[in-house]
This record gives sequence, C-alpha cells and structure tokens, in this order.
Amino acid sequence: MAEATLHFPPDFLWGTATSAHQVEGDNQNNDWWVWEGKGEGRVFSDQRSGDACGWWAGRAEEDVERMAALQTNAHRLSVEWSRIEPKPGEWDHHALDRYRTILKVMRQAGIKPMVTLHHFTNPIWVAERGGWQHPDSVSWFQNYARKVAADLLDLCDTWCTINEPNVYAAQGYFNGRWPPGVQDDVNGYFQVVCHLLQAHAAAYEAIHDLQPDARVGLAKHMIAWHPRHPSNPLDRTLANLLDRAFNRLTLDALQTGAWRPLRGRKAELPRLKNTLDWIGLNYYARQDVGFSLRALSAFGAAYGSRPGQPSGPDGWGELYAEGIFEMLRRLHKQFRLPIAITETGVPDQDDSARPGWILETLRWTWKAVTASWPVMGYYFWSLVDNFEWAEGYDPRYRFGLYGVDFRSQVRVPRRSSELYARIAGSRTISSEMVAEFAPALLEKLFPGEGP
Ligand code: FCB
Repeated sequence: MAEATLHFPPDFLWGTATSAHQVEGDNQNNDWWVWEGKGEGRVFSDQRSGDACGWWAGRAEEDVERMAALQTNAHRLSVEWSRIEPKPGEWDHHALDRYRTILKVMRQAGIKPMVTLHHFTNPIWVAERGGWQHPDSVSWFQNYARKVAADLLDLCDTWCTINEPNVYAAQGYFNGRWPPGVQDDVNGYFQVVCHLLQAHAAAYEAIHDLQPDARVGLAKHMIAWHPRHPSNPLDRTLANLLDRAFNRLTLDALQTGAWRPLRGRKAELPRLKNTLDWIGLNYYARQDVGFSLRALSAFGAAYGSRPGQPSGPDGWGELYAEGIFEMLRRLHKQFRLPIAITETGVPDQDDSARPGWILETLRWTWKAVTASWPVMGYYFWSLVDNFEWAEGYDPRYRFGLYGVDFRSQVRVPRRSSELYARIAGSRTISSEMVAEFAPALLEKLFPGEGP
C-alpha cells in the first residue's frame, strides 16, 4: 500500500496538558480539598484527590521525561493560586520556587511551557469571601497574576489566564456538582462568568505591563450543540439557545466588550476588548439537542449523544471528532487570532478510542492548518491519568497517554502514547499510522488508501 502523509508546519506545538489540582497532590489549601472532604457522594465513591500524580512531592520531573519521550515540545500546566497565595497578600516563596524548578526542568527537556493561572480551584480564603461572586475577586486575581508573572516571566511567555470560565460557573452555580455546590442559580452563573472575564482582562493587563511580548489567552470549552432533528424548528431553537448560553456569550463578550447574558445584569466591559493574543479551544464532544417534556425545568432542552454513535460515559456526549473543525472555523472567523487547541482527549481506560480520537482530531486540525487558519498547536489531555474532579479516580474517566496506578504511582504507557510519539516526532500523520492504530478509520481519514 502506498503511504499518504499529511504534514504539519515545523513550528507547530505538539503538547500535552495537565492542571495543578489534578496532578500535584496534597493541595490542602483550596476549595476542592474541602469539597472532597465533605464526602456524601460529592466525588465518585467519596474519593479524595490525595496524592494525585505526586507532582508536588517530586514526580513532576519524571513526567517531564515522559513528555520528552513522547517527542513533544510543549506542555500546558497550571499553577495553584492557593499554594502561591495561601492568605490574602501573603506569598509562599517555596511554592513559587517549586514551580520555577518544574518550569526549568521542562525547558531543559525542550518543552515549552504554557502556564494557566486558574484551573477550577480557589484558595480557601477566596471561597470564604464569596468566591467569584464577590466583585473584588477580579482585583484579588489580578494581584495574584501580577505576582506569578513577575516571578516566572524568565521561564514562561505563554499564559492562559482562566480555564473554561463557563464550565466552572455551570458546575458550581447551576449543576451544583462542584464547589460551592449551588444549584439552578442562573443569575449566579452569569455573574461568575462575568467576573471571570473581567479577571481575565485584569490579568492580561498585569502580565503585559511586566512582559510586553507575553502571549496571553484563555481556554474556552466548546461543545458542538446540534439539533437532534435539524428539520424540527424547536430542536433548532433549543440547540441555538444552548450554543448561545454555553459557547457564544463568552466569546461575544471577549470580542465586543459587551456582556449580554440571557438573564441578569447586562454590562459594558470595554476593558475586555483586545485582551487576547490567542484563543484556546478545549473540545471533547457533541451533544444532540431535542425538545422533551421531561426537561421542562431546562426550557424543554434534553441533550445527549446520538444513538448508535460512539460516546463517552454518563452524559459525556458523542465522540464526534469533526466538531473540532467546526469550532476552529468559528473561532477563526470570529477572532482572526492564533488558536491553540488547549485540550482535547477522551475518557478511555482501555485505550480503544484514544488512538482514533488523536488521529481524527489531528486530521481535522491539519485541514484547518492547510486552510491557513493560524492553529499554533495541539495539547492533548492528558499526559497521565489524573484526578478527574467529581469523577475522581473512576476508571471510566482515564485520560492519560500513560495509565497511572494510584496506589503505587507506577505509570504504564498506553498504546496511544506510541502513536502520539510517532506523530509528534515526525510532525505528520500518515495512512500507515491509521492502518496500524485505528484501521477502521482508514477509509474515512485517507479515502482511497484502504486495502
Ligand atoms: C476539561 C477540564 C480538564 C479535564 C478535562 C477532561 O473540561 O479542563 O480539567 O477535567 O475536561
């Protein structure tokens, strides 16, 4: 069989992604630690993050070696606000030093770091003061961002201020599944997103004051909300509503500086305009949206994966790789900015879906790059299995290229790690790789190349 090969640009970033609370372990000073300690089903089987992947205690270094073994040249990690500022205005220099060490080790291994400042967790003192509903949360965050940038700017120039503002707000204020555990507070949801966006702008300013050539962005989770029956106007309206509340509202505010929630206070946020040097896309799934009388409390909008299509566990949604292209197109059209795929991945303990997901999402990414859309890189979620928030260490939610045995901390490479290393090392995807790792996709990804 002749081999067909798709080439990526030489400066494309090949990365993996993690976040502090999910890998560090022993993060005793944040609201998630408190939440886990309350038990009563808040986390799967009442598990606690505990040692997680042991990064703080010293295992970050060995996992950096794994990044290098994967032939990657980039990694997105986050720093933990509660470690750096355990009390308001008090800085922990040991914590900052530990992050300096990790960043140095990465750079020595040829891995370019992207540092996220907020990835879902807050210091206990922030939570106790009312968290992101407090109007001063914006300036608290700005002080923290300024401190981190001042201390780490010689080691990092690419910053992601906030991870998934609306996922954070939805889980904490609407679904009540994450701290602070509030349910159905639509106004709270919009208020928190609005503060997070302002915090993003404030951090953007603070970082650029100190590091004028910094590259600052934010990671936006995008769900492909598609009508279950495209010919049904009700399904279309509901899909559009969810797309607006979940995807467009945040993006439009970033673009225009105008905050127009579906409910609650509208606001002009002129400082938000032009506060992106790049935009980050986190993409995982499609949700089919249809009207259902059983979902009346949610305007009748019921959603889930399309019957018969591959999907993740519970309400994860459909593993619809093509959606990444739709989202790249939307972001490109709206912002005309460099785009980073700051996360994509799949919950898959036995690694049956992951190789295909990597190949398919990268094939769509290649298509975007070939259309000259400025996609800077791809950060796969995740390097290692880790603590998956309310799903804890549920075996169904294993995301790592390396599996982790959380009792022994032993890492075991999954087959997809071999695939990703081949891709990142060659900066290509080829029909040969598809034939070897996901043969069922050959005809789809390389039409005409099948046996
Ligand atoms: C994303 C989160 C990340 C991880 C993955 C699976 O939404 O940013 O922390 O939980 O999902």
